[in-house]
Amino acid sequence: MINKKIEINYEVYTSIEELSPADQELARAAIAAQRTSYAPYSRFNVGAAVRLADGTIVPGSNQENAASPSGLCAERTAMFAAGAQHPGVPMVSLAVVGGPNQQMCHYPATPCGACRQVMAEYQKLGKQPMSVILLGEREIWKYARVDDILPFTFTSLD
Ligand code: THU
Repeated sequence: MINKKIEINYEVYTSIEELSPADQELARAAIAAQRTSYAPYSRFNVGAAVRLADGTIVPGSNQENAASPSGLCAERTAMFAAGAQHPGVPMVSLAVVGGPNQQMCHYPATPCGACRQVMAEYQKLGKQPMSVILLGEREIWKYARVDDILPFTFTSLD
């Protein structure tokens, strides 16, 4: 038996203004999208925004349902909208913000496993890294590629 270790790198920023202009724009689109969240059951509002390789930004927010499994997270709402409206255009970056009652958590609310899996698929489809930017009030975490937030990804190769 041998022990193995993997290393995960991510960048920590303390304000939106520290991000690149393109990432700031995407972050603000995610914050704006949070306002469109429909979350009467959890009251946890999440906004997301995907940047495509051609510069287009596609927003999304969590959409809940009385039949609870029928709802969808903000990240997948945004990615599926991008996939449906701009087929074949790679997704290069995804920003996410979440918090109770339209607020922003102090530290980033991190995406669920199902959303990470969907990110991995679109990253693979786009044949280029998709960065992930998670926004918190005190810290912003940026992952250069989906692999850094979902190691050991299940892919069609498996
Ligand atoms: N949610 C998201 O939209 N994204 C995440 O990454 C985690 C959770 C939503 C799902 C549900 O509407 C609410 O937050 C509470 O779980």
